[in-house]
Amino acid sequence: MDFRTRPARILFGAHRGFRAMAPENTLPAFELAASAGADFIELDVACTRDRRLVILHDDSLARTTNAGTAFRDGRLAACERSFAEVRSLDAGSWFLEKDPFGTLASGRLDAREASGYRGLQVPALEEALELAKRLGIGVNVEIKDHAKLAHDATIVEDTLGAVRDAGMEDSVLVSSFSPSYLVRATKAAPGIPRALLVENKRPWDPVESCRQACAQWYHPSEELILGCHIVCLQRAGIFVTAWTVNDPALALQLSLMGVTGFITDDPESIARPFPNRPPAA
Ligand code: G3P
Ligand code: MG
Repeated sequence: MDFRTRPARILFGAHRGFRAMAPENTLPAFELAASAGADFIELDVACTRDRRLVILHDDSLARTTNAGTAFRDGRLAACERSFAEVRSLDAGSWFLEKDPFGTLASGRLDAREASGYRGLQVPALEEALELAKRLGIGVNVEIKDHAKLAHDATIVEDTLGAVRDAGMEDSVLVSSFSPSYLVRATKAAPGIPRALLVENKRPWDPVESCRQACAQWYHPSEELILGCHIVCLQRAGIFVTAWTVNDPALALQLSLMGVTGFITDDPESIARPFPNRPPAA
């Protein structure tokens, strides 16, 4: 899918992949998202000590890998570990132990199938992009704010370089909570569209916030959405994607308000009220 043009229909993006059914930010989560009919996957980019880009949501490796037991020195941040060290971790077993969305307990996810998640690796960015290209699915690449971490000065440019090297410029949307990262992304790769992420505090004037950040997309958390904002954003030609929307009824309501798309943990369930997906506003 091409984020540079108005989508022909409401979009569904899989938050960290189809993370209700597979460990977040792993290749199986991305594959399942494509099988479930998501238009794009959303993934989070972090940087290792030796400046390799990996797919990881938290600064720390503790929640989604076995780093806590593997690394006894307590240095659990991805930026404190080499790529080889990060790749040596198990990024899948935690999902079987925690069952974060209750899909194992409910039987929706087959336990035998899920046992295959043990030993999954943290993906490299280029690996995830390659997979998305093969699956023919769009990618929302969220660059995590490294302001207080190593490689803050290079993570944006390195990410855009990886997108270019993968030949994925026409299928990627870069997003960040950091407006200055988006300005840097514009300089590094003006042709790749950008989304401004917001949470906690609703901007007074989201159109102006997007303009300052050089963003063509506005990605608010669902509770920040205001109907009048959507109207202003639409008039300014800015597309709106709400996250993280897991309630099909809310998705329907937001689509009627003019939201262009959703980022969801469960792209299968969210699609239910949209049997013939209406065109995006
Ligand atoms: O892109 C939407 C969402 O991923 C932003 O928040 O914390 O889940 O990365 P987070
Ligand atoms: Mg994210």
